Amino acid sequence: MLYTYLLKPMFFKMDPEKAHHVVIDGLATGSKIPGMTGLMNAMYGVSESPELRTELLGLKFPHPIGLAAGLDKNGKAPDGFSSIGFGFAEVGTVTPKGQAGNDLPRLFRLPADEALINRMGFNNEGADAMAASLSKRKINRIPIAVNIGKNKNTPNELAHEDYQSCIRSLYDHGDFFVVNISSPNTQGLRDLQHGDELRKLLVTVMDEMKAQAVARKAIPKQVMVKIAPDMSEEQLEHTVNTIVECGVAGIIATNTTLSREGLTHANASQAGGMSGKPLRDRSTEVIASVYRYTGGRMPIIGSGGIFTAQDAYDKIRAGASMVEVYTALIYKGPGLLRELTNGLKECLRKDGYRNIAEAVGADHR
Ligand SMILES: Cc1cc2nc3c(=O)[nH]c(=O)nc-3n(C[C@H](O)[C@H](O)[C@H](O)COP(=O)(O)O)c2cc1C
Repeated sequence: MLYTYLLKPMFFKMDPEKAHHVVIDGLATGSKIPGMTGLMNAMYGVSESPELRTELLGLKFPHPIGLAAGLDKNGKAPDGFSSIGFGFAEVGTVTPKGQAGNDLPRLFRLPADEALINRMGFNNEGADAMAASLSKRKINRIPIAVNIGKNKNTPNELAHEDYQSCIRSLYDHGDFFVVNISSPNTQGLRDLQHGDELRKLLVTVMDEMKAQAVARKAIPKQVMVKIAPDMSEEQLEHTVNTIVECGVAGIIATNTTLSREGLTHANASQAGGMSGKPLRDRSTEVIASVYRYTGGRMPIIGSGGIFTAQDAYDKIRAGASMVEVYTALIYKGPGLLRELTNGLKECLRKDGYRNIAEAVGADHR
């Protein structure tokens, strides 16, 4: 109510990126004020239930709906996101050095299509700044994923060193890590999804994760790779096989798309990656393919166009163990988390499942 009738009309009158900063700064500052996280939790928090509790990657999640990467690029507000009911939050994409990103404007709303187009280009304050922010977390209710990338000026031949450097700076601050090789707004980044470049990158990442774990006499934290929706089936199968062979724990499917299918709004002509409703079915298709190629043995986190509990459930039935949202949060506000979690419980009940784990991949059986 508060979001739909008061905040959203106010935000939608502002430049989209400015509204974005107001949200992040508001959540970051708000969660430092005594009593505010409790208030946010009372307004929007999600109470735990056995049906939705999820274990994945050796971690415990209160429920399987997380914040997708790109909203909290510097890890400034995980306590805020935890308080408004997320089951986990992915921060980043962070690069070793801070960088400005692409020229403004670079974020566009397409309200008629319930979509966004962005060409942010990994604007962020760098890995050390993120480490400093995350070290100030006070609430440890939800796992935090750190999404890592490469600086714009780093050539692909040296990309592996950037990912390695991010792991070194941030290892202690993330519960798991996401290798982002699928954003369309860093030139050449998506080439890292293929062939020898992918193998070289993932071998370096996995070696670094092991080295960090050995130094702490602990078992390594887990790594997922985030992939694009714009691959052919043949490319996708090849990419998935390489990811499996390199010992990566899981796949996030998918990032934004370069496709403009299904759009009616004038902003469709803007360059960048498209997210939101028109991406929904394609990302679910990719999840189903990844599930098939891995025989259901590799954890998948689904991302792309989730607006309703049924959208999330479709991705779970296609093979995702958990899901993430970004664009729907902009259009529907934080009440989304209660809507999705309550709706998911209803979907499980209707199909006779006792918990999320039983529904994962149901469409393949
Ligand atoms: C403005 C914006 C910035 C994003 N930045 C990143 C990013 O830095 N790294 C990343 O992996 N994904 C990024 N994404 C992609 C989202 O994490 C998500 O995968 C995608 O938007 C699809 O989900 P949605 O339809 O729920 O938004 C961004 C998306 C948007 C809209």
